[in-house]
Amino acid sequence: MDIPKKVRMVEVGPRDGLQNEAQPVPAAVKIELIDRLTDAGIPVIEATAFVSPKWVPQMADNAEVMAGIRRKPGVVYPVLVPNLKGLEAAIAAGAEEIVVFGAATESFSKRNTNCSIDEGLARFAQVCEEALRQGLKVRGDISVCLGCPYEGEVAPEAVVRLARALDAMGCYEITICDTIGTGTAGATRTVIEAVAKHIPVERLAGHFHDTYGQAVTNVYAALECGIATFDSSVAGLGGCPYAKGATGNVATEDVLYMLDGLGIETGIDMSRLVAAGDFISRALGRPTNSRVAKALAAKAAA
Ligand code: HMG
Ligand code: MG
Repeated sequence: MDIPKKVRMVEVGPRDGLQNEAQPVPAAVKIELIDRLTDAGIPVIEATAFVSPKWVPQMADNAEVMAGIRRKPGVVYPVLVPNLKGLEAAIAAGAEEIVVFGAATESFSKRNTNCSIDEGLARFAQVCEEALRQGLKVRGDISVCLGCPYEGEVAPEAVVRLARALDAMGCYEITICDTIGTGTAGATRTVIEAVAKHIPVERLAGHFHDTYGQAVTNVYAALECGIATFDSSVAGLGGCPYAKGATGNVATEDVLYMLDGLGIETGIDMSRLVAAGDFISRALGRPTNSRVAKALAAKAAA
C-alpha cells in the first residue's frame, strides 16, 4: 500500500501531556500553549478532559481552558469525556467534539476508569448516543493496545473487540493507543491489520507513547498500513497517571520532521511548532523531550 500523501496531526500535549504534571500548570499557560499550537497550523488540538478532578486534578480547570482559548475556524478542539456528567460539562463549555476512552485490558480499565471493560462500554454507549443526538462528533481511543502495565502482552482480538464496539456506537474515528510505549513496528502492523479487517483504515488513528524509543518507527509502520491520522505531544510532553513509568507521547516536532522528509502534507509550520514547544518547556522548567527541537536549537546556537 502507498503511504498517505496527507496526514492529519492531532495534538494531545495540552491534555495527555499536561494531565501527568505533578505541579499545577496555570490555566493561562495551557491557554497560551493551545493558542500557539493553533497558530502553528495544527488542525486538531485535544484541549482538556472533563474527567473527575479527584482522579486527575490537573484537568480541573477544563471549563476555564475551554473559555480562554482562541478557536480558529476549521480547527477542532476535542475533549476527553468518561461519562454523562463529563459530557454535560463539556457541552456547557462549548465542546464540539469529544473523545471516549476504553481499554483493551480489564486491569487498565479498572485503574483508569474504575470499571470493567463492559461497564465502560455501556457508559460510552450512553455518552455517544447523547453526544450524537446533540450534534457532537465522537472519537474513540483504545488504551493499552500494544502492552498493558498490569497484564503484559495484549491479544489483537481484545483490541478488535473494543474497536468494533466503539464503531457500533458511532465513533467516526478509532485510535489505537500504545499507552506505555512498549509496541514495536511488527506489533503495530499486526494490531492495525487485525482492526482494519473490520473498520476501514481511513477511520483509524495512531497514538504512540515513546517509552522504548519506538514511537516514530511505529508511526511509520502505521503509515505503511495506510493510517493517516496521528496523535502526538509537542515537546514530547506527558505520560498517563495510571501507567506508571510510561513517558510522553511521540513528540509532534519529531513526527513532523519525518513527515516533512517524506513530502507528506500536514499544514504545520515547524518553526512555530518548535516555538510552542519551547514555550511550554520553559513554563515547566525542563528541557524538551523532542530530539528534533533539541537539534534545531543546537543548530541555531552554533
Ligand atoms: P468514580 O470514582 O468511579 O466515579 O470514577 P463516581 O461516579 O463514583 O464519582 C466520583 C466523584 O467524581 C463524584 O464526586 C462525581 O461527581 C465526580 P463526589 O460526589 O465524590 O464529590 N465525577 C466527576 N466530576 C467531574 N467530571 C466528571 C465526573 N465523573 C464523576 N466527568 C471516573 C469514575 C470515570 C469518573 C474516573 O475514574 C475518571 O474520571 N477517570 C478518568 C481518568 C483519566 O482521565 N485518565 C487519563 C486519561 S486516559 C489516557 O490518558 C489514555 C489516552 O491518552 C490513550 C492512551 O495513551 O492510552 C487517552
Ligand atoms: Mg496517551
